[in-house]
Amino acid sequence: MNAGMPTARIADLRQRLREASYRYHVLDDPSIPDAEYDALLRELEALEVAHPELADPDSPTRRIGAAPSGKFEPVQHAIPMLSLGNAFSAAEVEEFVARIVKETGVAEPEFSTEPKFDGLAISLRYERGRFVLGATRGDGATGENVTANLRTIKAIPLRLRGDAPPAVLEVRGEVYMPLAGFSAYNAHALAHDQKPLANPRNGAAGSLRQLDPAVTARRPLAFYAYALGEVSLDVALPPTHSQTLQWLRTLGFPVSALVGTARGAAGLLDYFARIGEQRDRLPFDIDGVVYKLDRYDQQQAMGFVARAPRWAIAHKFPAQEAATTVESIEVSIGRTGAVTPWVQMAPVQVGGVTVSRATLHNADQVARLDVRPGDTVIIRRAGDVIPEVVRVNLELRPHDSRGHPLHPAWKMPKRCPECDSAIEHIDGEVVARCSGGLVCPAQRKQALIHFASRRAMDIEGLGERFVDALVEYGPVHGIADLYRLTVDDFVEMKRRADEAAGELPETVKAGKIATRWAENLVAAIAASRDTTLERLLFALGIREVGEATAKTLARHFGALQPLMEADEENLRQVPDVGPVVAARIAHFFAEPHNREAIAALREAGVHWQEGQPQRAPAGPLAGKSVVLTGTLNALTRDEAKTRLEALGAKVAGSVSKKTSLVIAGVDAGSKLARAQELGVELWDEARLLAFLADHA
Ligand code: IVH
Repeated sequence: MNAGMPTARIADLRQRLREASYRYHVLDDPSIPDAEYDALLRELEALEVAHPELADPDSPTRRIGAAPSGKFEPVQHAIPMLSLGNAFSAAEVEEFVARIVKETGVAEPEFSTEPKFDGLAISLRYERGRFVLGATRGDGATGENVTANLRTIKAIPLRLRGDAPPAVLEVRGEVYMPLAGFSAYNAHALAHDQKPLANPRNGAAGSLRQLDPAVTARRPLAFYAYALGEVSLDVALPPTHSQTLQWLRTLGFPVSALVGTARGAAGLLDYFARIGEQRDRLPFDIDGVVYKLDRYDQQQAMGFVARAPRWAIAHKFPAQEAATTVESIEVSIGRTGAVTPWVQMAPVQVGGVTVSRATLHNADQVARLDVRPGDTVIIRRAGDVIPEVVRVNLELRPHDSRGHPLHPAWKMPKRCPECDSAIEHIDGEVVARCSGGLVCPAQRKQALIHFASRRAMDIEGLGERFVDALVEYGPVHGIADLYRLTVDDFVEMKRRADEAAGELPETVKAGKIATRWAENLVAAIAASRDTTLERLLFALGIREVGEATAKTLARHFGALQPLMEADEENLRQVPDVGPVVAARIAHFFAEPHNREAIAALREAGVHWQEGQPQRAPAGPLAGKSVVLTGTLNALTRDEAKTRLEALGAKVAGSVSKKTSLVIAGVDAGSKLARAQELGVELWDEARLLAFLADHA
C-alpha cells in the first residue's frame, strides 16, 4: 500500500464490502462474519476521514449522511406506478386466465408467480449505475422523494453491479419490515415505554416517512424488487418478466426466492396453495400472491384498464378479519401493574380459529377506536399474534329511543379490579398502571410466574396455570413463601383448584398422581435455592431490569448488599444504566416490602455466590481514550464529550500513543495529522452519530 495515497486499498475495501453485502442481501449466502464486515467498514471510514479527496458519495460508509429534512419533495414518476386488480377466488383466477387465452390466442400462457409483499411500494432510479432518486408510490403519478431514507436500507444497492450500467434504470419493489425485526423493535419500545408499531406494514410505511434518516436507519427494513419503471434504450431487456427479475438479481437487487413461473389456471392455483401453506412460517408478511403474464409481447397485447394492467392480478388470501359484537370491555394487570384493556366478544371464527377476546393495547387505542359495549367491531388475527380490534362499525352502534348511544365512551377505571388500588396514568407514558404492587393478586401472580421462569429462578413445573391456583388457594403472598410449601400444601391447593373448576372428585389413582406431581414441584423449588446473583436480580422483577442489566449489576457490585445501598448517583455509574433505570432500581430497594422479601428469601435458604465488584468492561468505549478534533455539525463539542463519557470513554485533549480513537470533524488540523502518523483509529462525524444512535 502506498503510504501517501491509499487509493487502491480504499477501492479494494469498497469492493469487498459491496460484495459481502450482495452475498448477504441478494444471494442470501453471507461470505464473511458480521464482525469482519464491521472491521472492514471501520478501516474504510478511517481512510476516508484521512483522505477526504478520495471521498465517494456511494461508498458503503455513506448510507446515513443527509441531515433531517423539513418535508418530502414531490416526485413525478416517469412511468406511473400502477396498482393491481384483485382476485379472491379460484373462479376469478380462472376468468383472468381465460381472458388472456382468448385475447392473446396462446393456449397455455406462462406467468411469473410472486408473493404479494405487505409493505410499501417504492421506485428506485439509477443513472449510470448510481442510485439518484427514490420515491414512494403516492397517487401513482406523483410520489414523495424519500431518497435519504432509502439509502439507509442495506438491501438497496447504492450502485449497480457490473461495468456497463444503463443510462437510466428504475427498479420498483416493496420495502418491508421482516417479522423478527418488527418483534424486536416492539419489545424494545415496550420496555422503554415508547409507542410500539401497530404491524409490520405500518412499521415500514412509518419508518420511510421519517424526516430524519438516522431514525429510518435504526428501523429494520428490507427490500424486494418486482418490477421496472423507466429504462433507457441502451438496455436490451430479456423477453420475459421472470428473466428480468433474474437479471435484476445480477445487478444487486434482492429478488424473493419464492418467485417462480407457472402455466394455466391450475398452475397458478397450485402456487397459491403452496405459498398459502408456507405463509405462517415466512419471515415477512404477505397478503396474497401476484400473477403476471410473463412475456412482454403478450403483456403489450393485453394492455391496461384504468390504473391496473390487464396482464397481472393479485390473488388475495382470505382476510384474517371478522366482525363480531363487544360484550364488555375489561382490563388485565401485568407484572409491573401495566393495565391492558381488552374486549370480551361474542365468539367468532378468524383464520380458522375461534376467538372471544381481542386486545385494545392501551387507553389511547380505546379512545382512538371509541369502542363501547354493544358495538360491532372488526377484529384481526395475524399469525400467532393476539387478536386485535381494528375498527368499530359505528352504523351498527345501539342507540336508545332518543337516539343517544346506549353506552358512554369507555374510561380507564380509577381503581384496579383485582386489588382496588388506584390506577395511575403518568403523563408521557402510554400505559396506565395499578399502584398496588405486590398487594395486587394479579401482579403477584405475574411476579411469581416471572420469578419461576426459566431464565430467572428456573423452577420447572411452576407454570402460569398453576400459579393462579397458588395465589388464589394457597398461602402464597410473596415469592419467599414458595420455599415454605410442603407436598401436602400443594396437594391441598390442587384439590381446591380442581374443585373450584368443577372437576371430578378425587380417586385414589388421581391422588397418587397429584402427590408425585407435588413432590417434583417441591424438589424443583428446593433446587432453585442454589442460584446466582444475576438470576436473582432478574427474578426480582425490578422494572427496566432485564437479563442484561441484571448481569451488569451483578458484575458491577459483586454482591447484593452494596447494590441495595447504592443511591441513584452510584447506580448511574453502572454501564448502560441511565437515570430512569437508576431511579427504578433505587426505588425498588427503598421499598420496605421488597427488602423484606429479599430477607425472607435469604432466610428460606436462597443463596448465591458473591464476589468482588468487576468494573472493568464498562460501556462500549470503556478503557478507550478518545480525542475530538475539528468542528462537528450535529453536536457541540461538550455534548459529544458527555455522550462519549457516558459510554465509558475517557475524552482527552491531545493525541498520543495511548489514544484509541480520534473523531475528526470539519477542518481538523494537527491532531488529525498526528493520529494518522500514529495509525490511531479515525471516525468522521457520521460514524460517531451512527455509533451514538446504536448505543442510545
Ligand atoms: S407489481 C404493474 N408485484 O401490490 C404492477 N406488486 O396493488 C405493479 N405488491 O402497490 C405492481 N407485491 O405495493 C407487484 N410481487 C409484487 C407485489 C406487488 C406487493 C404491492 C405493491 C403495489 C400493490 C398493487
